[in-house]
Order: sequence, then C-alpha cells, then structure tokens
Amino acid sequence: MHRIQFAEIKGETLDKGWGILPDPMDRCRRQTWWKSVRKEGFWFPSYDEDAFWETSVPGAFTRIHPQLEYYEGNVVYRLRFKARPTAESERAFLHFRGVAERCSAFINGTFLGEHDGGCSAFTLDVSGLLKDDNLLYVLVDNRRLPDTVPGLIHDWWHDGGIHRPVELFYRSKEYIRECAVTTRLDGKDALISVRVMIDATSRDSFRKVQIKITDEDSCKTVLEGDIDCMPGAWGERVFRIPRSGIRLWSPSSPAFHKIEAKLGSDCWTDTTGLREVRTNGKEILLNGTALILCGAAAWTEDPVRGGFSHGSETAKETVSLLKKLNCNFARAGHRPPSREFVKACDRAGILLWAEVPAYWIPDMQKPAQSRRALQALEETLREHRNSPSVILWSVGNECAYGAADKEQSNIAYFTEAADWLHEHDPSRLVTYTGGMEGTGKESLSTVCPPVLIEKLDVIGLNSYSGITDGAEPGQADEFPMQFDKIRFLSSYGKPVVLAEAGIDAVRGEKGFDFGEERQRAYHAKLQDLFLELVKEGSIQGMALFVLNDFHTPIKLGRFQRGYNRKGLVDEKLVAKSAFAAVRDGYAKIPNRD
Ligand code: GCU
Repeated sequence: MHRIQFAEIKGETLDKGWGILPDPMDRCRRQTWWKSVRKEGFWFPSYDEDAFWETSVPGAFTRIHPQLEYYEGNVVYRLRFKARPTAESERAFLHFRGVAERCSAFINGTFLGEHDGGCSAFTLDVSGLLKDDNLLYVLVDNRRLPDTVPGLIHDWWHDGGIHRPVELFYRSKEYIRECAVTTRLDGKDALISVRVMIDATSRDSFRKVQIKITDEDSCKTVLEGDIDCMPGAWGERVFRIPRSGIRLWSPSSPAFHKIEAKLGSDCWTDTTGLREVRTNGKEILLNGTALILCGAAAWTEDPVRGGFSHGSETAKETVSLLKKLNCNFARAGHRPPSREFVKACDRAGILLWAEVPAYWIPDMQKPAQSRRALQALEETLREHRNSPSVILWSVGNECAYGAADKEQSNIAYFTEAADWLHEHDPSRLVTYTGGMEGTGKESLSTVCPPVLIEKLDVIGLNSYSGITDGAEPGQADEFPMQFDKIRFLSSYGKPVVLAEAGIDAVRGEKGFDFGEERQRAYHAKLQDLFLELVKEGSIQGMALFVLNDFHTPIKLGRFQRGYNRKGLVDEKLVAKSAFAAVRDGYAKIPNRD
C-alpha cells in the first residue's frame, strides 16, 4: 500500500468495460484465474471471458444487480484496459477510492496487493507492470466478519463492490507524495503552515519543493517559497502574512485558494479554503468567531454506488436539500465520505463531521478492530487533507462502553484514535458520540466516559428522548430529559453537539404510529429546545437524524419495510411536514455564520 495524496492531479479514470462474476466458493483464487484462461476442450479453470456480467464501476453490485441485493461474499471484478507502459523515469499507480469491504488485486498475472476497509482510498504500484493491453483482476469480498470495522451489525444496507472511482496516475520517479496546508490566526496575521512529503529513489540529500498559493478568484499570489524536503519525511515552512491580505473560507463566504507544489518536472495541485477552527471553552470558533452548527445526518443513497458513497449528482442533491433546510453543517455518515460529497460541501460552505465505522462494536480495543479503524482514519485524512468543510473527525459512534480501568475496556481504541488525530491533523477537532435513551444522567458517564471526554475537543451525544418504543398519545413529556443530559455534558466545559435526534414517520401516514404530524410536532419542539440551549450556551450544534429515509435490513416493521424512516424527506427525497419545521427553526438560530 502506498501513502499518496493525489489531490487534484489528473488521472485516467477506469470506468468502462468492467465485468463481474459472483464467486461464493472462491474459485477464482483457487484456480488463479488472473494467470490462466480456459482453452477449448478443457474444463479448468471453470470460467470463460464472456461469462462475466457487465457492471458499472464506480458502483455497488448490491444496487446494480437485483439478484445480488443481499449477497455477501466474493465477487470477481475484471477489466481489460489500454495503457502506456511506464518509462524508466516514471512510476504508475492504481488508485482505488473505495472497495467494499476488502479486496486483492492482480495485474497481468502479478499480485499487486490487498486492502481492507470499504470507504477509504488506497493506492497500488503498477510501475513496470503496465503493457499496451492490460488485464486487471480485483477479488472483492464484502462479508461482515466478527473482527471487521464495521462489525456484524449496523443500521444501513451492507453494500459491496468497487463503489468509488478507480484511476491510473503516472508520476515522475521523484514526486510529491503529500502536501498539507493549515491556517492559524494570530492577531492581525495568519500563520499558514505548508507541509510537504516527497518520494525519491535515494535519500541522500534534501530536495527543494517550490510552493505557491493563489486566490482562485483574483489569481493573486498569497504566498510563495521553497521548502527543503528529505524524501520520506515531512518538510515544513510556516508563512506569516497579514490577515487582511487573504480571503478566509467560511460557510457564508466559501473562498478558495489553489495550492501548487513543484519538484523538478513533477507538479502537484489542490484546492483549499484557508480557515481556522478551534475551541475556546464551550465555544466552537471558526476564524475566531463563535459558530453554532445547524445540521442533519446526510445519509442520501446513491442509486448506483449505494450508501455513504455520494457520486456528483447525489452530492449535489444532498447539498441542495441541506441548504433548503438552512443547514450550515452535516454529519457525513457513519463511514468516510466520498470525495465528490466533500468537494460539494467545500463549494457550498457546508461544514462536515466525518467518521469511521467504529459502530456498535463491543471490542474496539482488540488489535484487528482498532488497527482497521485507525487505518481508515489515516486514509480518510489523506483523501480530504485540504478540504475546509471537514472540521470534525469522529472516532466512532455508540460503542465506547466498558469501565475505562478494565483491561478489556474498548476505551483504549477511542483515546488512541483521538491522540493520533491530534498528532497528525492540527487543523480539525476530534469528537465521539455515545448514545443514550431515557433518564439517568449518571449513566451518561458510561456512554460518554470522562476519560474519553478529556481527549475530545467536542462532546457528541445521540439522544432520542421524546420517543420511546410503544409510546402512547399523552405520554409524559421526555424533552426535559434532553435538557438535563445536554446541560450535564456541557458542565465538562467543552462544546456539546447533539449528534442524533429524530423520530420515524412514513410520508403520508396520518395516524399516531409512524405519523407525519407526530414527527413534525417532535421536530418543532426540538427546535425550541435547541434555541433555548443555544441561548444559554449549553449546546453548540445539532445533527438531526436524518436527512432522508434510507435502506436498512434491521428495520423490518410494517411501516419501515426495510427503511429507516427518521428522514425529514423520504427515500425519493420528497419532504415530510417536519422538513418545514426544521427549516423554520434553524432560521432562528444565531451565529450560523
Ligand atoms: C442509532 C445509530 C444510527 C441508527 C439509529 C436508529 O442512534 O447511531 O445509526 O440509524 O440509532 O436506529 O434509527
């Protein structure tokens, strides 16, 4: 696996001509299909070139092929493609932006590598292996296993396949591997740190990388200079420039800057927004000003790519819904977001909470689980390093249970992940969200353990108080419990975000059970509560659950029929009556930027 950030470098997209074959018994691996073709008259290996089904990449086989809707197992992907063999002076890489859940890849008969983790990007080196005509095999396996992340159970559809783009990149032998730009404000100045990492065949001396950052609109150069870099290690230079000379990025004014880095003939580019996010006591400050996050969980499903994998169209629709809802914030999903979605949020000025699926897993402290989650964090950070919209990393959702002092406590993963992020990404805040129903502030210490809170910048809480299973009309009002819980968490002196709250409703349903009116009333009341808590300074944000109804095989009731129905719009993105209540409520919230 190669740690390379391709940012906005142009690659060749491999999106035509893919075939798949479901292979539950793993025949491809046993018979090494990538090396052998069946000859006429023989029955081994037991497949044919034309036996492959046509499919779309990027795409989830669970969405494209109805007979594979609930399939979990091996699927063989095969692609024939033309390419230019690499010259002596260059290298070539295949970059996969997301393969669910794990895969092994082979090109022209040679093993390239394996990857585990369905929603984060990885890179395989194909230098010297490319020919004019190439044959690529990707053996995909989307089974849930006891030690995978996500684990055996989750509340979304278990999509599988090469669901995000695959690209081929050529680079010089000495090339820029990564470049990170972060902004700190210091009085009248902005301190802009540029860190660069290069790759080279020898580590004998420092190389000079030329850096230039320009304003995308005015083309004015904001900073320019050289950074000395030793191959394989970060080189850094901090530029101090007057704050008045730059346009900062914010939701109401998403200003962009172009980053260019050059090493010999290698050019690397990306787009960023210069902004600072930090906390001050209970406040979240964006460019020094207190900000309240008004948001929703953006679970929109791409019809071809599946859940948590917005392509450009789905990203555009989602962002437009968020805007109509008066949101400045979205929780991007329980899995790392797609590049298309993050870029759309960068442009629209939607702030994002990005998360790895340490979700309902009781043993996150075990080596296999924590290694998988940390790897997903690392790969996601690399993919979205310079995106201004991502302001929060969440290390997980609803599973930091267990006493912190016990050997088996899964808190070990959460605290390690928070430390890792602080070390590697000073430009963002770290959060985690526990889930708690009902009363009892004391049990909040179990779902949001103080030892973990100490490591977080922002405290998250999922709380559905206001609905209980089998609730009856006239049942006691549970909203005061929301107040109590939020105020209790706020007493830690850090910002608190209500990271999930909502209630199921079927669009058009008139009754109390799953009724639209009940959902509207719930959200109207929740908006009043939010405003009150904002005014008293006990809450800094909210991500309603959820923007849209989405597929899930664990919601099987007669109203749900395989969907989570907490959406403010249904699965076809048609608004329920709660949508207007939220839109009107968010319009009244101060400090939305
Ligand atoms: C949890 C969880 C969500 C889930 C929700 C629900 O709080 O975090 O992912 O969908 O419950 O069951 O509706």
